[in-house]
Amino acid sequence: MKKIVALFLAVLMLTTAFAAMAEETRTLVMATNASFPPYEFYNDNGEIVGIDAEIAGAIAAYLGYGFQIDDMDFGAIINAVDSGKADFGLAGMTVTEERLEQVDFSDSYATGVQVVIVKEDSTITTVDDIFADGIIVGVQESTTGDIYITDDFDAAGLPADNVQRYPNGNEAVLALSTGKIDCVVIDNEPAKAYVAANPGLKILETEYVIEDYAACFKKGNEELLEQFNAALKALTEDGTIPAIIEKYIPSDVEDAAE
Ligand code: ARG
Repeated sequence: MKKIVALFLAVLMLTTAFAAMAEETRTLVMATNASFPPYEFYNDNGEIVGIDAEIAGAIAAYLGYGFQIDDMDFGAIINAVDSGKADFGLAGMTVTEERLEQVDFSDSYATGVQVVIVKEDSTITTVDDIFADGIIVGVQESTTGDIYITDDFDAAGLPADNVQRYPNGNEAVLALSTGKIDCVVIDNEPAKAYVAANPGLKILETEYVIEDYAACFKKGNEELLEQFNAALKALTEDGTIPAIIEKYIPSDVEDAAE
């Protein structure tokens, strides 16, 4: 009898130890689209860096998990999260009603603004000007810029072909620089980075849409979502996340530009 109890205890201890190991080595996989500076982009060493990459890394470390980033098309992120291939998506992703039908979102950690990039000498001077017939707008496929422009063009009775979709913002901006399209609708911070990297472009002062960024999770994955939100809150309060944002979007530069 004693032997059986001892065996039972040994098995129990082993199981607990294995469970603890599995728990410790659990790696959180973040799905993103790394062509979206300063949120996620490749540095010169070929590593994915940026606000989202660092925030997620800090959250994983805070929770005691390993951390890995998977780069994919922006439009593939929700599916990766939904199918369990990734634990969460963090990609400057806007919270929208439609996406809320497919995934759950964390608390918001940043604000995004859809802006319009044009050539410096463009006849387009306000957001309203892009709704003139014949204006070709470039967007990053599956983003809110794509969704809003497609809807608004449709409502205005403009041809669907006047919206050109690109796999990432870089390619849309390249098409603008080379005169293939008249403007690009995209989030403000990447827009600033693209304009800084491509001479002859500017951002219109009028804003198109203001939105909230958050991480997305498989629907019903309450446990991880709650852990993520708790970590987000703690790392915001202790200054870690504000410092990450400040590193990539320095407020003095911001003020100087305004
Ligand atoms: N905020 C926009 C959206 O949610 C664009 C995000 C694009 N992000 C990226 N990593 N490429 O649709």
